[in-house]
Amino acid sequence: MAKPIILTGDRPTGPLHLGHYAGSLRSRLAFQDTHQQFLLLADMQALTDNAHDTGKVRNNVVEVALDYLAVGIDPERSSICLQSQLPALAELSMLYLNLVTVARLERNPTIKDEIRARGFGRDIPAGFLCYPVAQAADITAFRATVVPVGEDQAPLIEQTNEIVRRVNALAGHALLPEAQAIIPRAGRLPGVDGRAKMSKSAGNAIALSASSDDITAAVRAMFTDPDHLRVADPGKVEGNVVFTYLDAFDDDHAAVADLKARYRRGGLGDSTVKRRLEDILQALIAPIRARRAELARNRDHVIDVIRRGTLRAREITERTRDEVMQGLGLFRL
Ligand code: TRP
Repeated sequence: MAKPIILTGDRPTGPLHLGHYAGSLRSRLAFQDTHQQFLLLADMQALTDNAHDTGKVRNNVVEVALDYLAVGIDPERSSICLQSQLPALAELSMLYLNLVTVARLERNPTIKDEIRARGFGRDIPAGFLCYPVAQAADITAFRATVVPVGEDQAPLIEQTNEIVRRVNALAGHALLPEAQAIIPRAGRLPGVDGRAKMSKSAGNAIALSASSDDITAAVRAMFTDPDHLRVADPGKVEGNVVFTYLDAFDDDHAAVADLKARYRRGGLGDSTVKRRLEDILQALIAPIRARRAELARNRDHVIDVIRRGTLRAREITERTRDEVMQGLGLFRL
């Protein structure tokens, strides 16, 4: 039996960081054994809120691909492909826009939050409001049935499946499969400052390409329990970023549980816990950084990987486009 198809992707707007690693890259490595995987460099989607800065989007295409390869994505098993050079995605987007109302797009809770966060006011780029439709085109074009995304993206999969059901009803048969969102149970990795989301723009991220000194500095400055003033004091583990990161990256769960108990009781200093976390992060990132530096010396190879992945993606997405156009009764030459 053919392996189920997974589509995931990232907007190429900056280098990837530990939040991406814990939230998605790690599971993508595991999916390589069980699924046929496509990784979309979503540069068209990045433009929906970066049209003023195409240079940033262009420059980060290879950077994000480098991050993928450096963590161990195998381009023979996971096709890395470039959204803007997959015309079938744009064609399906245009078609699907007719199956969705403006009111429905405006009701999407993710979009509402993002519009507020970006301060668009009344000047919302139409492409931004409609990006859930374009994402539905991405997912259905690849016939993906599994879409690993953060919790905030769940309403987009909901929207995708509404479109799938519309298409299937109009076609009179199950032309497209519905997609299932896979949401990581661990939740989102907070920034080193304790804020809910790690992001480069907030300045609270540890990049996958971070130097050894960057890591040391980030861990040293990491948010712990502000009321834990003396080593002997009992400390709080909840909301303490160092423990959140140990939960995410330390495989010795018994040792972490023991550290937590000692910290709560009092007598365990921040610096001891931080030293353990720093060792773990240095050991995690060092091989990624080395591999990334080596790959970066041969950009042509990376570009070739993207080209080959995009060609594979073209085959499947163009076949789906033809089936949908046909299924919906368009005149085809
Ligand atoms: N919206 C995703 C993000 O912001 C990127 C993305 C674009 C995507 N198309 C996709 C993810 C299709 C999964 C499936 O990171």
